Amino acid sequence: MRGEWDRRTTMSALLGAGLAALGGERTAFAARGSGRIALRTIAAEKGIVFGAEIGGSAPGSHGTAFTDPAYRALVARECAIIVPENEMKLYAIDRPDGSRDFAAADRIADFAAANDLKLRGHTLLYNRDEFIPADVRARLDGLSAGQVGDWLHDYVAQVASRYAGRIGSWDVVNETVDPDTGELRATAFSRVLGFDALRIAYEAAGEAAPGAQRVYNDYMSWGTGSERHRKGVLALLADFRKRGVPVDALGIQSHIGAEGRGMSDADRRAWRAFVDEVVAMDYAILITEFDVNDKGIDGAIDVRDRVIADIASDYLDLMLPYPQLKQFLCWGLVDRYSWLHGFAPRPDGLPQRGTPFDDRYRPKPLYQAIAKALQAAPKR
Ligand code: XIL
Repeated sequence: MRGEWDRRTTMSALLGAGLAALGGERTAFAARGSGRIALRTIAAEKGIVFGAEIGGSAPGSHGTAFTDPAYRALVARECAIIVPENEMKLYAIDRPDGSRDFAAADRIADFAAANDLKLRGHTLLYNRDEFIPADVRARLDGLSAGQVGDWLHDYVAQVASRYAGRIGSWDVVNETVDPDTGELRATAFSRVLGFDALRIAYEAAGEAAPGAQRVYNDYMSWGTGSERHRKGVLALLADFRKRGVPVDALGIQSHIGAEGRGMSDADRRAWRAFVDEVVAMDYAILITEFDVNDKGIDGAIDVRDRVIADIASDYLDLMLPYPQLKQFLCWGLVDRYSWLHGFAPRPDGLPQRGTPFDDRYRPKPLYQAIAKALQAAPKR
């Protein structure tokens, strides 16, 4: 059951939404007067754009964040930038009859504009077969390399041009490095086009959305299990430079904390060496999808929240000093909508607590950890 505080929040947010469609939600939430400084404000002082994803949620979570006015109001209050969780992916846009549906993506883009939020795009080429709809794969089957390349070019150009001038940063290619081998994943595009699939995506994005930052986004991490993944990503980034593919930045997803693990000293060294190599190749870096998977963390809620906050502090204290990092987005702000419920359900059946706000939109120790790390970050 929702408490009094929560009902009031929802009421004021609903009022705001009613008065100005999806606009003005920041005002509605701020007017409630929590007295807390928004994360976007703390980040802005350091030259960092703070934000979160908003949109549909994974199976296992408790609903759809974007349709919840209280969630939208919280996002408008805390964030300077948003990114749609799924709504700009091929599987969300493409229809089996070959038509394209941008309604859900447009709603989020309109919400961003109405609330003066920046917008990131995610993602033009999620290069894994499981995220390329079966009917798209069937349509591509048997086509020549030239035809597959044209299909990809036209798709990327259509999506990128629709949001040109509105999206300042695109995850053009997502997760194309196979973490087990470090090689490019074999997909409906790369089996036919090889590396050119990536080149086509980046070039089409650049032509269709001039000025937008072009990002390669992936989930490599610090542990020994991620060594090949890190090596593969470094090799890919080096290849982009060698072959003249226009890529500006590495998106470091930062789904951290798997199995309750923080960084050992060896992990920290390995991770720092990785990030150092990335920036030495003249790439910007972004934290694009930060959350803390607490699947392996046992104990009462306050104990779990403490461990989660400590893992986060450790990571953010390493990452935020990099002056090349100017965008920091959480993969959701509120636990109830986190994809982690579906992706990594806890064996004890308890809900994951990997985002900064609890199910009643109250800040948790993870929020404090983020705020503190931002406060400690140098200006850029
Ligand atoms: C996830 C969404 O959060 C889920 O709702 C969806 O079911 C699957 O995808 N890396 C990414 C994101 O780049 O697109 C993923 O988002 C999380 C991992």
